[in-house]
Amino acid sequence: MSKGFTLWFTGLSGSGKTTVSTRVAEILRQRGQLVELLDGDVVRQNLTAKLGFSKEDRDENIRRIGWMCELLTRNRVAALAAAISPYNEAREKVRARVQPFVLVYCEAPIEVLAERDVKGLYKKALAGEIKHFTGVDDPYEPPENPDVRLDTAHTSVEHCVGQVLAALEERGLLPPA
Ligand code: ADX
Repeated sequence: MSKGFTLWFTGLSGSGKTTVSTRVAEILRQRGQLVELLDGDVVRQNLTAKLGFSKEDRDENIRRIGWMCELLTRNRVAALAAAISPYNEAREKVRARVQPFVLVYCEAPIEVLAERDVKGLYKKALAGEIKHFTGVDDPYEPPENPDVRLDTAHTSVEHCVGQVLAALEERGLLPPA
């Protein structure tokens, strides 16, 4: 029977967390793994619906997602989390509670993300219509030692997905295809 683990995607809004994690989830399912994807935008409509974007609320959002990951992981599910998770301490608190924990950093320059602006949020943030927007007027602490670093501005989705799967295989969390 396959083993549970937590695969945590961190990065700025629009950096590819949802895209890459969704594709990884599909492939893990095809390979017989039980999978649950906790995506920030979806979690915030449900589990953390009343939380905002202060440091306190973001930390609480991450704590709750981390707790869900802990429950899923111990029940042999591959728990994928895709949330900005801007604070190093909050991410490391999850890591301290959940094993195995694999941290994936979706790294992309903010200029590229603001230019693409898939959800139109950077335009609003830069115009001051959304306050405390991560990377614009709110902090993002890049992970110093992520397990996987994806250069999502310059690399294809399929290549990024391959990097993540390879990291899982290396750690014995996914049998080679
Ligand atoms: S986190 O900081 O608590 O990890 P989370 O990933 O759940 O954030 O939610 C981020 C999403 O909320 C963004 O992709 C965006 O769609 C939306 N959002 C709305 N306001 C903000 C904001 N001030 N900063 C960042 N994202 C925001």
